[in-house]
Amino acid sequence: MKANIAIIGTGGTIAGRGESSVNTSAYACSVVSVDEILSGIPELASLANLQAEQLLQMGSENFATEHLLLLGSRISRLLQQDHVDGVVVTHGTDTIDETAYFLHLTLKSMKPVVVVGSMRPPSALSPDGPLNLYNAILVASSPASRGKGTLVVSNDEIHTARDVVKTSTFKLESFRSPYGPLGYVVEGMPRYYREPARSHTLETPWSIEEIDRLPEVGIVYAHGGIDAGMVDAVTNARMSGIVYAATGNGNVAEHVVGALLRARREGLHVVRASRTGSGVVIRNGAQPDDKYDWLVVDDQAPQKARILLMLALTREARSAELQRMFHRY
Ligand code: DGL
Repeated sequence: MKANIAIIGTGGTIAGRGESSVNTSAYACSVVSVDEILSGIPELASLANLQAEQLLQMGSENFATEHLLLLGSRISRLLQQDHVDGVVVTHGTDTIDETAYFLHLTLKSMKPVVVVGSMRPPSALSPDGPLNLYNAILVASSPASRGKGTLVVSNDEIHTARDVVKTSTFKLESFRSPYGPLGYVVEGMPRYYREPARSHTLETPWSIEEIDRLPEVGIVYAHGGIDAGMVDAVTNARMSGIVYAATGNGNVAEHVVGALLRARREGLHVVRASRTGSGVVIRNGAQPDDKYDWLVVDDQAPQKARILLMLALTREARSAELQRMFHRY
């Protein structure tokens, strides 16, 4: 029996169109409707019973917290319907890693949710969207995908939302997880080799149904010669937290420490993360976090740390508990 899969269109390159078939990187994004995308791939009809809706039509670089909440609530309502077996979201690839992690932490269901995009528009020679979407629907339809949280499917790979990040502006193999994908889709069959190790969906304290707003958290990207005023800008914007995408293992330039201490004094939580792309940040390693009342990521990329801190702050203000969340999720 075919699975019933709900598809939510939100835009991105998978909904893009170039002037010519050789425009693989320069094109208009978020212009093709989800119905048009689906009708361009007749092979999908044999995979599952599909119902599609256009929730948003925008580049994912424009996603703000209200878009995350809107998308999460819509998916949650679909998952509550008995006849829906899984949900696939078509999404721009720029912030797909943020949206997927947000859904991974806030949806309360064992049913598969797959977020999918493409690096080339459907109008290009060798587009990747049709196969990515075909694979995403296969993954969402498979009982083997239940209980794994939110997944990102791209380039024949199945990634856990917690780990995956976009690593290239144009390559089809842009999506990478530091510990590798959970599995692959080969010849119409998802093959899993690993499980997500960290708590998600049913095992988190956050339910999308209970969140009506998210606190704002900013990211400051460190570099040689950084002006401490970059940190002050976030503090002065009265945000609730700063993720400092530090160099190396969370190093903070001496002249920036004072600005981060001021941020903490003014009530913002400060998280040391790393701009390196992988690896853990050691608490009380490069900086005395206990003394400064700062936090560190476990190994979350700065953009994932921002999502996690926003969620954490909806329930918790105690530093020790916030720190525990970084090591748990
Ligand atoms: N505007 C970008 C976005 O929606 C296009 C990138 C893409 O989807 O590959 O994220």
